[in-house]
Amino acid sequence: MPDRYDLPAGFRWGAATAAYQIEGAVAEDGRGPSVWDTFCARPGVIRDGHTGAVACDHYHRYPEDIALMKGLGLDGYRFSVSWSRVLPAGAGAVNPAGLAFYDRLVDALLEAGITPLPTLFHWDLPQALEDHGGWLDRDTAYRFADYAALVTDRLGDRVPAWITLNEPFVHTVFGYALGTHAPGRTLMFQALPAAHHQLLGHGLAASILHDRGLEVMLSNNLTPVEPASDSAADQAAAEAYDALHNRLFTDPVLLGRYPDLSALGVPDDIYGAVHDGDLDLIHTPGLDALGLNFYNPTRVAAPTTPDLPFDLVDIPEAPHTAFGWPVVPDALTRLLLHLRDTYGKALPPITITENGCSVAEETVPDQPRIDYLAAHLDALAQAVAEGLDIRGYYTWSLLDNFEWAEGYHQRFGLVHVDFATQKRTPRASYAWYRDLIAAQRARQGR
Ligand code: FCB
Repeated sequence: MPDRYDLPAGFRWGAATAAYQIEGAVAEDGRGPSVWDTFCARPGVIRDGHTGAVACDHYHRYPEDIALMKGLGLDGYRFSVSWSRVLPAGAGAVNPAGLAFYDRLVDALLEAGITPLPTLFHWDLPQALEDHGGWLDRDTAYRFADYAALVTDRLGDRVPAWITLNEPFVHTVFGYALGTHAPGRTLMFQALPAAHHQLLGHGLAASILHDRGLEVMLSNNLTPVEPASDSAADQAAAEAYDALHNRLFTDPVLLGRYPDLSALGVPDDIYGAVHDGDLDLIHTPGLDALGLNFYNPTRVAAPTTPDLPFDLVDIPEAPHTAFGWPVVPDALTRLLLHLRDTYGKALPPITITENGCSVAEETVPDQPRIDYLAAHLDALAQAVAEGLDIRGYYTWSLLDNFEWAEGYHQRFGLVHVDFATQKRTPRASYAWYRDLIAAQRARQGR
């Protein structure tokens, strides 16, 4: 039984999901459409034409899912609130049935002894806001703050900590630059105002939440960037990529400034999006914890085409997950130490808000997932031993779910879901994680 992690008292064990990936019930009880409903209806964009219309039917089956969480002994559960379920047009008229769903969910979690950790935005922008430009429109930041106020008015009495945004890097790049995610725009670097407006929305919402005595986190998908060689060209490419993937989303929040984006050809004011005072709005509220979603490092080489200032290359010596992502656990330790070295005193405590891997459905038991999780927890414990303040670990994911452009093909769950019958079957990794949590509790005398 694994009980070897030396972690701080009060370390929280959790699991994570997101609304569009699990809830289903997309047209029920007054929910409005989100960009993901619209995107999934476009032919050819999602593998095999899958959609999140039913997903894990969690909207109806949440009591069963909470029982699974309770069986794991989770301290915390990270889920996201669907903006268009509570505000069908993104702003204006409130949908009481939508708020009531999250009310029931929160109460049922608390009843099970599990602390809810909601994310306010996990990529499912109300379509009505997208029709006005989505995150390319500055006004969306203000609508996000209004939505944050509404949801925390209702749940803030029972939910102490909140994540504003999930992975603004991925949403900006896949959603607005490359078009492989909703809303499917292909603006390349001209997409970056969407990044600034998300960060502005984060800052505006963070102030409101802090005024209410709530804790605020932001979940960034960060990756240690390694140059493919020592050559100056590869190193310059790696720096350019690091600025885009990591620093663009962390420097403004922790340091109050943007990194130098000139290697990307992006002007300092991000095409006029950055107004006077914006960086204060983003930086001043501060973060109670930085949410870190970690999957893999990124190897970068000098560009081979004039379109981009870098090339992303494979890490062929590493094993790969079913998704084709390289498995390099010690990259997590390196990333954590790098964050400390880069941000120093400006680095708040860290919570790992996602980490996990996709395993092929026929791999039973799912030993590769157990190995992945164990190795990453070793890497986390190593960083703790080196002095990093890490407060919790939320594995991705509780359940197999709708994996965006990959549809139901990538299975990240501790629990297998048969999408034809909605039957949930805990995997070997579920029992492993349950035993790990119990052993850690016993070790800490909780
Ligand atoms: C992250 C997303 C999450 C899930 C995992 C596999 O980038 O935040 O929703 O898709 O990847």
